[in-house]
Amino acid sequence: MVPYKNKAWKEEMAVRLDVNHAMAKFMGEEHGVFDGEIESLAQETKEIHHDIKESRAKGKLPFMDLPDQNTKEILEMAKAVKKRCENFVVLGIGGSALGNTALHMALNHPHYNELSKTGRKRAPRIYVMDNVDPDRLAGLLDILDLKKTCFNVITKSGGTAETMANFLVCQEALINAVGREDHKDRIVVTTDESKGNLKRVAEREGYPCMVIPAGVGGRFSVLTPVGLLSAALSGINIRELLAGASFMERRCRKVKIWENPAYLNGAIHHILNTRRGKHISVMMPYVHGLYGFADWYRQLWAESLGKRHSLDGMEVFAGQTPVKALGTTDQHSQIQLYVEGPNDKVVTFVALEAYGHTMEIPRSYPEMEGISYLGGHSLQELIQAERKATEYALTRHKRPNLTLTLKELNPFTLGQLFMMYEIQTLFSGKLYRINPLDQPGVEDGKRATYGLMGREGYEQNRQEMEELAGGEEKYVLHV
Ligand code: PA5
Repeated sequence: MVPYKNKAWKEEMAVRLDVNHAMAKFMGEEHGVFDGEIESLAQETKEIHHDIKESRAKGKLPFMDLPDQNTKEILEMAKAVKKRCENFVVLGIGGSALGNTALHMALNHPHYNELSKTGRKRAPRIYVMDNVDPDRLAGLLDILDLKKTCFNVITKSGGTAETMANFLVCQEALINAVGREDHKDRIVVTTDESKGNLKRVAEREGYPCMVIPAGVGGRFSVLTPVGLLSAALSGINIRELLAGASFMERRCRKVKIWENPAYLNGAIHHILNTRRGKHISVMMPYVHGLYGFADWYRQLWAESLGKRHSLDGMEVFAGQTPVKALGTTDQHSQIQLYVEGPNDKVVTFVALEAYGHTMEIPRSYPEMEGISYLGGHSLQELIQAERKATEYALTRHKRPNLTLTLKELNPFTLGQLFMMYEIQTLFSGKLYRINPLDQPGVEDGKRATYGLMGREGYEQNRQEMEELAGGEEKYVLHV
């Protein structure tokens, strides 16, 4: 039996959330949360829980059902693409790219693309292009053999300027390299089932299409073909990933805050934000591979909760600024600020019990006490000691912090993290009484770009921008 079907193994792999150092008992009343404050949210949580259940039953929260999807088509597509290429380039942005990076950073070899073909088990190298900096794309095209390259164009709306521009550039390069007919085998489109310009292009060109299920928003789409195709292609066990997400989704069916990790974490962040002035939420994994996950979280938390209006139309300017930091690297960059600067943050450490490697530190230079104390320990011991030391420093200075601990970093535990944060974000949006599933501010920017680039129908946006863009020369410094 595969381990992720084994009950005992699943329980052993359950993510642990320790909120001790966010509580008033350790932080004091000015910076910590009282048990009673959490209890006082019980009734509201009950209503939110009911609301979520109802919306889900009406099919309005399809991201929660993704763990049960049939992965056959994705696995078949991955198999077919694997035969055709040595390089696989994802073209997408925001929710259509960040999940891919998070998955690869966490679950593939840290130098995956530099491994030999055998080292990669004959899977292609993976690149995620989520910007339109011409030097970056030109640099990538410089090193790729386009005859052996496939592109995965991912856009839910089928029209985002960055993704479509990168697609057009790569499509032309591909046609020049392999010819019009053969280029068709080298592009896979991931988009809405029927809407959007990319879908029309795909139909016209005959590109194979993967569907992003209706109602799953960009930043909630990592567990759709958006993230799963490149993951499967590189050999990540996507069934185990979904099993982890399913395990967490079930744990989050509990209405009691203290039994539901997503509700508990959401409630604590909400209280710290709205009643204790913690306007910044730092995610700091002490696991290098989870730095991409912290980036994924940054988008989810920012875009979902950063809202001007509440559901009843009041101006609320809700949200908490998410920041990513990396242990131990940022101990030598950010921690001074977190420990002694403004007490406006809540820090989430992500800890790992068992790293993939041990790496003993050699007992060199026994006569030099300042070095020899390290000998005989392991890098794993050192990184864990540093995390505990940072946690201690923050706690001593009454800086609220929480710790999420993973037994191992594997698809099952990562799947749990994705689902927990998605449900936590949905729940938090309801606590803030805003819509966590839309992004009117992003759409504003998209429309302005269309206007500036001369897209028909967006002339008004261009005009508004030009009016705002003006400035006085005296405020511009020419160095
Ligand atoms: O979460 C979201 O909806 C956004 O961040 C989108 O993912 C992002 O704007 C890209 O949109 P699209 O996938 O339509 O190209």
